[in-house]
Amino acid sequence: MRKPLIDSQVFKQRRDLLAKSMEKNSALVVPAHPELIRNNDVHHPYRQSTNMFYLTGFEEAESVLVFVPDSDKPATLFVRKKDPLKETWDGFLYGVDGAKEAFQVDQTFPIDDLEAELPKLLAERSLLYFSQNHDPDFDQTMNGILKRVRALRGRSGEGNLPIHDSYPLIGEQRLIKSEFEQGELRKACKISSEAHIEVIKATRPGINERALHGLFIKEIMQRGAAREGYGTIVATGNNAVTLHYVFNDCDLQDGDVLLIDAGAEYHYYTGDITRSYPVNGEFTGAQRDLYQAVLQVQKDIIEMIQPGVKFNELQDQTYEKLLDALLQLKILKGDREALLKENAQRKYYPHGVSHYLGSDVHDSGTRKVNGEFRPLEAGMCFTVEPGLYVAANDETAPAEFRGIGIRIEDNILVTPTGHENMTQSCPKEVDDLESLIGSGSDIWAGTVS
Ligand code: GLY
Ligand code: MN
Ligand code: MN
Repeated sequence: MRKPLIDSQVFKQRRDLLAKSMEKNSALVVPAHPELIRNNDVHHPYRQSTNMFYLTGFEEAESVLVFVPDSDKPATLFVRKKDPLKETWDGFLYGVDGAKEAFQVDQTFPIDDLEAELPKLLAERSLLYFSQNHDPDFDQTMNGILKRVRALRGRSGEGNLPIHDSYPLIGEQRLIKSEFEQGELRKACKISSEAHIEVIKATRPGINERALHGLFIKEIMQRGAAREGYGTIVATGNNAVTLHYVFNDCDLQDGDVLLIDAGAEYHYYTGDITRSYPVNGEFTGAQRDLYQAVLQVQKDIIEMIQPGVKFNELQDQTYEKLLDALLQLKILKGDREALLKENAQRKYYPHGVSHYLGSDVHDSGTRKVNGEFRPLEAGMCFTVEPGLYVAANDETAPAEFRGIGIRIEDNILVTPTGHENMTQSCPKEVDDLESLIGSGSDIWAGTVS
C-alpha cells in the first residue's frame, strides 16, 4: 500500500480541534478538488483541495469527507473503489478498506454511494458546514442530497438543513499554525530559498526567463517539493511591471533588473519569495537607489511585526514609507499630505504589503473580526512584500527609473515575542546579491524560438 504523505494522527488531531469550534449537532462536508481537463482527454496534474488535505491527508480525487463530531462515527470518507484496470493506467488507489486503514477515519463508503448514504448522515443534524460555489458539479450533487435530507426530515417541522460556509470555520483554524505546521512551512521556505540562490547564481545576460523557471523547478523538486506553490514569475526589465506576469519567455538583457517570484510547495505548504536584482551582476546607481528604498521599507515593516500589531498598521506604514521614497527619488512630486490623501503611491505600488501564507499561497483566515482589523497573534504566518514598479512608458518618472520593477518578499511567522523571518537565508543585501549573480555555471546558452 502507498504510504500516506503525513502520519494520519496529525489529521485526526486537526479534526478533533475543529470539532471544538463547530456548533452542537452539526456536520461538515468537504469535497475533493475536481479533476480538470488540460486538453482533449489529458488532465492537469492533480492537487487535492487544501481543506480536504488539511483534514484528512487524503490525496485522491472523487472523495468527500463528512465530519459529524457528535456521533459514534465522526469521520466518514467516501472514496473511489479499488479498480485494477484503472490502476493499470493511473496508479494506486487506496479503495474503501485501504482508505479506512491508512487514514484513521471511522468509516468509508464507495463514492458511488454518496447520494444514497450522505442524506442519512445529515438528516438528524441541526446545521451543515459546506462551502458552495467552488465546483458547480458538486453543488448540483449536494442540491439533490439536501432535497433528500429535507424529505427524510419529513413532518418534523425542521424544513431545510441550514448551511454555513465551511471556509471561515476551517480558515480560522488554519490561520494559527501549529508547531508541526511551522516546521513544514520552514521546510518549504528553506527549499524555496535554496532554489532562489541557485537561480541567482545562474542569472546572466542572454539566458531566457524560461530557463530560470525550469531551473527553479528542478532545484525545488530535487529537495523534495512536489510542485510550485503558484505560477512562478520570472520577469526581466519592464516585464516586472506586470504584477502577475505569466509569459516567462524573454531573453534577459544586459542592464535589466530581473524580478523572480517563486515558491516551493512541500507537504502542502508553500514558500512565497520574491527577489529583484540586476541581470549583469551590478546595480546601476538608479537601480540601486530604487532597490535600497524598497529594501529599507521591507526591513522596517518586518521590524514592526509582533503580537498585537494590526494588519492595517503594516499596510498604512508601507504606503507612507513608499510615498516618502517616491518623493525622495523625485518619481513623485508635490505636497506629501495631499499625495498621501489621494493614494498617489498606488500608481507605483498597486498591491498590498501582505497576505497570509500556508497551504494556499494566499492562505485562509480573516483580516477583520466583527469589522475591526484583528491584532497579529503568535502562529500567524504572512508575507511582507513592498515593491515599486515604474513602467517603461511612464513619461512622468525620471528616465533612469523607467522599465524597472522591484519587489522584495519574505515569509514571516509571528512568534510570542516578535517574529521569525523564515526566508532569511535568501540573500537580499546589495553586496550579497552582486557577488552571487552569475557565479554558477552557464545552464543554458540557448534562446526560445
Ligand atoms: N506570488 C504571489 C504573491 O506574491 O502574492
Ligand atoms: Mn506574496
Ligand atoms: Mn510572491
